[in-house]
Amino acid sequence: MATPKQSSVFPKNFLWGTATSAHQVEGNNHNDWTEWEKLGLVKNGEQSGRAAGHYERFREDFALAKDLGHNAHRFSIEWSRVFPKPGQLDEQALDHYRQVLEELRRHKIEPIVTLHHFTNPIWIARAGGWTSRRTVDWFGQYVLAIIKTLGPLANYWVTVNEPTVYTSLTYISGLWPPQKKSYAAAWLAIRHLAEAHRLAYQIIKRHFPDHKVGVANNISDFVPARPANPLDRALQRFAHYWHNQWWLDQTYLTQDFLGLNYYFHHPLQFRPTRVTDLFAPAARGDKPINDLGWEIHPQGFGRVLDWLGHYRRPIIITENGLADAKDLHRSGFILQHVHQLQAAVQRGLDIRGYLHWSLLDNFEWREGFTPRFGLVEVDYHTLKRTPRPSANVFREICRKNGL
Ligand code: FCB
Repeated sequence: MATPKQSSVFPKNFLWGTATSAHQVEGNNHNDWTEWEKLGLVKNGEQSGRAAGHYERFREDFALAKDLGHNAHRFSIEWSRVFPKPGQLDEQALDHYRQVLEELRRHKIEPIVTLHHFTNPIWIARAGGWTSRRTVDWFGQYVLAIIKTLGPLANYWVTVNEPTVYTSLTYISGLWPPQKKSYAAAWLAIRHLAEAHRLAYQIIKRHFPDHKVGVANNISDFVPARPANPLDRALQRFAHYWHNQWWLDQTYLTQDFLGLNYYFHHPLQFRPTRVTDLFAPAARGDKPINDLGWEIHPQGFGRVLDWLGHYRRPIIITENGLADAKDLHRSGFILQHVHQLQAAVQRGLDIRGYLHWSLLDNFEWREGFTPRFGLVEVDYHTLKRTPRPSANVFREICRKNGL
């Protein structure tokens, strides 16, 4: 007797796919990052340049995503293309993103559109970037232009990507442009980002009440390196509060779904050094790590999901992945993380999608082109795309709607 087909624990219409961001894959951008890259501070002095050439090749890339079984794709619109100068809307850029959205729809791939993914137009950066209140208004003007023209083509919107990561790296550690180390600036920036998120939420909901709006929140699994040590525990609580909780407390009521970017399990050990060193992870020993030295820790994913569940909003995994040039760990990584996801769904969490970072190898910010995050390898000389073996493992999951 044939055994009945086991139905998936994942809801029907679960979103399976990948995420990218404009600056990392498009090529030929002109924004605050491209300006800063000229200073030679990116690893090996690299510049984003033509990146993965996705601006021209998006049709080929989405056909690949379709072949790889995906039914969803998150990408970002590059603000500096849409408004290269204040008040000067570039219709051609808008038309490009219209084609991108139409192409995804043609393939029945659900678009998830990010409005801000780390980069800013140069004129915004010159006017003080996110430390300036005016940036909130300009962001609103940009969001309005997008929603009026492209609004009907997408149901899911991510207003901002990883606001706490952005603020920490730009204004606290000063590793990213504008490299201005100042707690006062950081405080202004994060508050303005929260305001910008709420404004974008209102604009989108006013035009399309049914559309789903969220934030891609980087939530990390912080643990005290020495569980009984009160200083490590205090550090863990502080890191968790600043990195994970503060922002969500401010904004979860205006997030229809909580986007989760999960990369980090951080055992924290108190060292009385500079405040900016506090987040330096404790020694990893012989634990599994990716090419960037980030520990592979799927259990942390389960813990973070449970913690997010307390906010009682639907969750979409907006990013999860690893740098693995040789594709040695990616298949196992995907299986283990989807296993955690499945267990979380079985525990009753309302999870709607999983987007792997990334579809393609891309420009990894200060680390340049060395880290390889793609399910699909990009040869940077020829721009040829070659799916890695792990892309097939993920395809099976997408096709079966689960493990
Ligand atoms: C996330 C970013 C994304 C990418 C991955 C590796 O923090 O959102 O752009 O760089 O890390």
